[in-house]
Amino acid sequence: MNTTQLLFDAPVATSHKTIARRLGVFDDNRRKPIHRWYPFVEGYSADLVASALGEFPEAQVILDPFGGSGTTALAAAEHGYDCYFSEVNPYLAWVADVKVNKARAAASSNASAELTSIATAFVRGSVPPVDSEHPLIEADRRRRFFPDGVAAHALGALQLCDDCRPEVRDLARLAVATSLIPASNMIRRTDLRKRRSGDPDPAPLLPLIAKQLRDFAHDIETAGHTIDGQAVRVGSDARLLPELNPLVDLIITSPPYLNGTNYCRNTKLELLALGFIPDERNLMDLRLATIAAGINNISKKREDPTVMPAVEEIACRLDEVAYDPRIPAMIRMYFSDMRQVAAAVRRSSRPAATWLLDIGDSRFCGVHVPTHELLAAAAALEGWFVEGIEPLRSRRSYDGSELAQVLIRMRAV
Ligand SMILES: C[S@@+](CC[C@H](N)C(=O)[O-])C[C@H]1O[C@@H](n2cnc3c(N)ncnc32)[C@H](O)[C@@H]1O
Repeated sequence: MNTTQLLFDAPVATSHKTIARRLGVFDDNRRKPIHRWYPFVEGYSADLVASALGEFPEAQVILDPFGGSGTTALAAAEHGYDCYFSEVNPYLAWVADVKVNKARAAASSNASAELTSIATAFVRGSVPPVDSEHPLIEADRRRRFFPDGVAAHALGALQLCDDCRPEVRDLARLAVATSLIPASNMIRRTDLRKRRSGDPDPAPLLPLIAKQLRDFAHDIETAGHTIDGQAVRVGSDARLLPELNPLVDLIITSPPYLNGTNYCRNTKLELLALGFIPDERNLMDLRLATIAAGINNISKKREDPTVMPAVEEIACRLDEVAYDPRIPAMIRMYFSDMRQVAAAVRRSSRPAATWLLDIGDSRFCGVHVPTHELLAAAAALEGWFVEGIEPLRSRRSYDGSELAQVLIRMRAV
């Protein structure tokens, strides 16, 4: 990557230290106990967090403003740190809480035997379906998300979990939640719109939940004791992060990429099943609180974006060529949103705090959007000195052109 021709005047030092490419993706976590409980394709590797913690051993207060499924919080807890996080999607925030706080409580209360015995009930198929007026059933009636009877069995399974003791309940509910999409007619990509065709058939729900429960029991038994810190949710929308006390020493995060991932809608089955939203229509509220990283986030209900000249240059080119006016609107809104996050995070950081930010660039209608450079420029306006931009791996755009994933390294001034 050429970081010598930046689009802005922010103080940037180039660094060509290449971090192993696997650190930028979730893949390794699929083999790690507890991290594997919710395979979150948009997540990064726990090893990225571990390497940052190793690099800054003096850091005590850690923050991830885009907590996602809790990779940062869990990796920090495994190294004995508490971690503040914010996350706009209540389901993902709950996943992080379960993987850290509930898993720790489960480990200290010998929960694995109970998880294994619930698994046996699921294998026997002794789960009565619940065919009530539940939002999941309503949504399924309209949209056929599941094969016949599966939604009712999922609700029956959740009801069974509710009878468990508190130390086990949320782990069991997560086993059900993570089984919903593999047992549905849907494929989870950046959104949850595509139906299976040519992909494997939906997995049978109850054996899948049983397998998850046995895996969870195994992980609690073998790795539960390694969790020695807490995940502390301090907010929902990172733009509105409250001022934290004590101030933060180290921020490790990966914000939404400008690639249209619809972070709330692609978890709508879990949000509905677990009662986080009463109706699909409530996704709109979450969409407005989400960083504008997709054209679906663009709405007249949003505040006007703050204008930044370097962003305008790219957005104006897109005004000319984009097939949808929401594309340049999204570019303007994304960097304006992220600038607000940079300001909020800065308010909660002590001077000289380090911010490691994983991000990738994008391309729309043939126009390259150097997201990393523009983000670095926005952060520099809010009190961050950009120390370096380090390549993590190369990626491909939808049109086949080469894109990058990088780690921006910043220091609070
Ligand atoms: C790339 S993912 C983070 C993944 C995380 N590092 C992990 O490994 O699980 C970005 C996250 O930002 C969240 N998000 C989007 N807008 C947000 C906002 N305004 N405030 C807080 N979180 C937000 C999304 O819901 C998503 O979970």
